[in-house]
Amino acid sequence: MTTRTVHIKCFGCQMNKLDSSLMASALQKRGFKLVEKPAEADAVVINTCSVRQHAEARVFSHLGHLKHLKKTRPGMIIAITGCMAQRLGQSLLANDTIDIVVGPHQIPHMPDMLIAALENGKRTIAVTDHIRKPDDQTALERLDTFEIAHDSDKNHIKSQAYVRIMRGCNNFCSYCIVPYVRGPEISRPPQAIMEQIRKLADQGIQQITLLGQTVNSYAYRAGNRTCTLADLLQMASETKGIRWLRFVTSHPGKFDDSILQAMAKLPKVCPYLHIPAQSGSDRILAAMNRGYTAGQYLDLLAKTREIVPEIAIAGDFIVGFPGETDEDFAATADLVRAARYKNIFVFKYSPRPGTRADERLADSVPLDVKQQRNHELLALQNEIAADCSRRFLNRTVEVLVEGLSKKPHLNNPESTGQPQLVGRTATDYIVVFNGPESLTGQFINVRITKTSALTLFGEHV
Ligand code: SAH
Ligand code: SF4
Ligand code: F3S
Repeated sequence: MTTRTVHIKCFGCQMNKLDSSLMASALQKRGFKLVEKPAEADAVVINTCSVRQHAEARVFSHLGHLKHLKKTRPGMIIAITGCMAQRLGQSLLANDTIDIVVGPHQIPHMPDMLIAALENGKRTIAVTDHIRKPDDQTALERLDTFEIAHDSDKNHIKSQAYVRIMRGCNNFCSYCIVPYVRGPEISRPPQAIMEQIRKLADQGIQQITLLGQTVNSYAYRAGNRTCTLADLLQMASETKGIRWLRFVTSHPGKFDDSILQAMAKLPKVCPYLHIPAQSGSDRILAAMNRGYTAGQYLDLLAKTREIVPEIAIAGDFIVGFPGETDEDFAATADLVRAARYKNIFVFKYSPRPGTRADERLADSVPLDVKQQRNHELLALQNEIAADCSRRFLNRTVEVLVEGLSKKPHLNNPESTGQPQLVGRTATDYIVVFNGPESLTGQFINVRITKTSALTLFGEHV
């Protein structure tokens, strides 16, 4: 029998990247070979995101290309996994380009479904019926077993891996689809998490990123004891071989000081926090159901900087939420000015079917106004970021090398004839420098000679 080939395409957040790695590893164990190009694949898996309409539109456009490819490759199988599979379910099978639909809680079934489809053209679907009330405890146990069996750095950057500490979300921010497609918040047992971290460390992984939609609310109760994120950081810090630990994404509500103290005390915990504010207007924050005011958010940042002075902070913002006025937007700009972020991600509000904002509020801000606010906020942040990154000039920083730069034209003139590499500092700054590709996955020192808003440039020392 010839080896079957599979191509995995991933949209969406780190959760999805992790799921893609797990699926890649599971398929490899079943004899599949991973290929770079869909044109070389017997099966294509598209791991999808539903967070904005645009994310779904990209998947449909990708499917358009695959429809043509499928005509030239009879028997080719297309699987849709991830959040869109859970949201749209059965209706996706109406599209005859799609053969298999698998929701995020059902991925352990995916390899069998894919093999059945390749063998006898069987089109199947596995999504969770009542994802907010998973009555099927065995499905969750199966997920955990799958996770432990397949944790891997497949499809990921050398020396680095993600480890999920929580599933789902219970926050119900009024605009957000995640609680409806990823189910309720569940903290995984610390024993399972630690077992994975140790296994990854044994395989040569040096940086672990702990994942959760609201990672700071991690709490695993056993008897009368609760294991928190701070406890996990402490335990993970003691793992031999692990050099850097990160965690994303944090929610500003109920952010416990113990996490900041762990960051200050444990040298392996990177001084970096991704903590979305979403808006600077208290009225909009309330309508978003975020559970804090702009003032409380800024107080938290101030306390964070007091405890971890060298910290770099990143944030997310939604512009054009229903009813957002010029004054509301001005308040967001004020918050961005005050917060002094390392970087921010700005998104135009996208109504998501079934969310409270979509059901109760009209998408009232015109697209051109959303566009303008998006642009203004990024321009403002750009000035702040350029200023923040200047502090690195002439300093030597430790960098974990990720690999070849995707933008070789950014090569600095003093090029030594070596390729351009990229890496990241503990504070998550992107560092560009020249060096041999063999440095990929290693910790090295780089002296910073030039800075821009988003990037530091330097020389390997
Ligand atoms: N759990 C994370 C975020 C997950 S979604 C958190 O709470 O921080 C990633 C980002 O997408 C969010 O921070 C938000 O800024 C954005 N987002 C979510 N839903 C959106 C929507 N309906 N329209 C536009 N942006 C949205
Ligand atoms: Fe969505 Fe809010 Fe949960 Fe983040 S905290 S995943 S924005 S509902
Ligand atoms: Fe998207 Fe699902 Fe992540 S909706 S942002 S891939 S949890």
